[in-house]
Amino acid sequence: MFIFNKKSDLTAHLAAIRTQKTKIGFVPTMGALHQGHLSLLKESIKNNAITVVSIFVNPTQFNNAEDLTNYPRTLERDVEKIKTVSKDIIVYAPSVEDIYEGNTKSTAFDYDGLEFQMEGAHRPGHFDGVGTIVKKLFEIVQPTNAYFGEKDFQQLQIVKKMVQKHNLTVTIHGCPIHREANGLAMSSRNERLSADARNEAALIYKTLKEAKSKFENHSAKEVIAFVENTFKKHPNFQLEYFEIADEATLLSCIRKSKSKKYRGFIAIFINNIRLIDNISLN
Ligand code: PAJ
Repeated sequence: MFIFNKKSDLTAHLAAIRTQKTKIGFVPTMGALHQGHLSLLKESIKNNAITVVSIFVNPTQFNNAEDLTNYPRTLERDVEKIKTVSKDIIVYAPSVEDIYEGNTKSTAFDYDGLEFQMEGAHRPGHFDGVGTIVKKLFEIVQPTNAYFGEKDFQQLQIVKKMVQKHNLTVTIHGCPIHREANGLAMSSRNERLSADARNEAALIYKTLKEAKSKFENHSAKEVIAFVENTFKKHPNFQLEYFEIADEATLLSCIRKSKSKKYRGFIAIFINNIRLIDNISLN
């Protein structure tokens, strides 16, 4: 298995094995890997001759210093997990210096307004940081295909927009959300939940499923009120937002249109850990 810490080593290795026709699949991650990440790797392996995974906790996308410090870093365990999928996967685990070369700053991106909604509104600068790192990684790896989870649906749409606006040649693929047995969306942050909180957090997906069924014959406003009231009854949860938005524009649904696809998006704290999830509504 190849593990590179320097972009110069990775690019030299890829240059030696890449031909014009070689499909390269790429899965960017911040590590602390779980089955959700591994499902992206499996999808890449199925469709590409070479698969590269990056493991890099990107400082420019954290708007909260404490969150950055507390983010789990488990490279050895991650490598063991990757090996269970395939020993042929190439790992790129760079240092901050290798990526940012002394200039740990984000570039500002225009994503046609996608960046002002939900996560963008609550995490200032977050999507500039995501755009900055994903674009840098695409330039290093030069993948044919890249795989992103619908768990971070807004990020997926933003990356697609960035690729379109910058005329990048990579094709972006969205992959379904992997969940724990109780329905909680898998996330590296789940590791920080107590066993009790992890059980209780099952309420998030349960409520999203109820919201989906209510959306068939209720307005967006009514469904939002239902979700807000549900969590008000559970003091361990602090709801940051629940929104129903058009999948393409991420604008809030004011009046339902039959021609549009909608999703319910949630950000919620339990025991001070911030979790996000979403569900397709129609
Ligand atoms: P990270 O949170 O590590 O996620 C890496 C990829 O795994 C993302 O595309 C994310 O949507 C996907 N993923 C996470 N949990 C998932 C789940 N339960 N089911 C399916 N896919 C899941 O997202 C990032 O890192 C970073 O922002 C990154 C894109 C790497 C840029 O730094």
